[in-house]
Amino acid sequence: MTTKILFATLLALPLAIQPLSAQHDVAPAAPAYKNLTVLKDAPADQIGPAMQFMSSSLGVDCAFCHVAGKMEADDKGAKKTAREMITMTAAINKEHFGGRPQITCNSCHRGAARPVAVPAVLETDAMPKPAAAPAAPGAGTAPTADQVLEKYISALGGADALKKVASRQMLGKILAGGSETPIEVLTKAPNMRVTITHSTADSFTAFDGKGGWMGTAGKPARSMSESESAASSLDAQFHLALTVKELYPQLRRGRPEAVAGVDCEVLNGTAPGKPMVRLYFAKDSGLLVRMVRFADTPLGRMPTQIDYSDYRENDGVKAPFKWTLSRPNGRFTIQIATVKNNAAIDNARFAKPAGDVK
Ligand code: HEC
Ligand code: HEC
Repeated sequence: MTTKILFATLLALPLAIQPLSAQHDVAPAAPAYKNLTVLKDAPADQIGPAMQFMSSSLGVDCAFCHVAGKMEADDKGAKKTAREMITMTAAINKEHFGGRPQITCNSCHRGAARPVAVPAVLETDAMPKPAAAPAAPGAGTAPTADQVLEKYISALGGADALKKVASRQMLGKILAGGSETPIEVLTKAPNMRVTITHSTADSFTAFDGKGGWMGTAGKPARSMSESESAASSLDAQFHLALTVKELYPQLRRGRPEAVAGVDCEVLNGTAPGKPMVRLYFAKDSGLLVRMVRFADTPLGRMPTQIDYSDYRENDGVKAPFKWTLSRPNGRFTIQIATVKNNAAIDNARFAKPAGDVK
């Protein structure tokens, strides 16, 4: 994989499957699949994510089931087994879980091609630590979802201060696979965002307020699929703290959890056409420290986790200067060095280029 493709893949915040789009060189929403049977009724733009789901669940790459360049061929036994497994999994869910996708490839495989049927033996003679019973959402003193959000807003500087900032230019670097590359993030209220990685060729991941696109300088840009766009639109929310309730009117408090040793309040959001999200707010600071969003595939949900840290205050508002995005198949960190609030940014910077990306 060249660095260029690596970054394009990593930066595709949603589940872009680079090999698929590169192979067909068209928007992944309309690839001509030739030999789908068990997945033939799935939306075309979810086939790539479904392949990624199987690869991650089994801890294998595409070649485990496919002959390179001949994805439609059924030469490999593993591909045939996978078809049977897809049918079996659907049957288990239908018969035992009311059709809800409770059992997936990962429930049994957990990152291995061969599931392990027997419990592991101890590897030391230290007393085994039983897993702590999960804490129930505390009753009585527990804050409501609204109170968690209010605390978040005031931790950021308050609604009035937030509204005074309507655009932001950030310069920093992206760290992935042991290398560092300069990066620029431009973002503007209400929901425009472009991330430019200055690699051998500049690569772009953007949301223009309506749809997402990606591209590399010198090549035509490609539009994101509907689900990629929905995820990207969430990242592009300039004032997420102020708009999250409009986006997810059904925001519900979940079981409190710790993130890197910090106790957090958890809010879960679902809304039609939007990825399911889980938001983690530090109990002490009130700040958002983690967002996990889930992309639906025909075989189960793929998570994208973003951990926010290094909050710094500029012009009376706090923003994270560091975030790490982790998915089952990739992870990178962005570290911002300088921020300019209310930078003048032309809307054209976010628009998908008609011809080649420059
Ligand atoms: C565990 C096995 C498995 C893995 C791993 C896997 N696939 Fe598949 N793939 C399948 C199966 C099974 C089908 C056929 C599904 C059907 O019959 O509906 C398929 C179909 C496809 C198709 C459609 C081909 C056509 O035209 O009919 C493409 C494209 C594809 N896979 C790409 C990939 C890519 C890219 C990866 C790696 C990210 C991958 N697959 C990983 C099992 C796998
Ligand atoms: C209920 C548990 C369970 C689920 C769910 C499940 N599998 Fe399996 N799978 C197994 C077991 C057990 C084996 C090993 C069978 C054997 O050793 O002969 C296996 C074997 C396989 C193999 C063959 C591996 C090899 O080394 O040849 C493939 C490929 C596979 N599964 C794919 C999948 C995919 C894809 C899914 C999700 C659609 C899935 N499985 C869901 C239990 C499961």
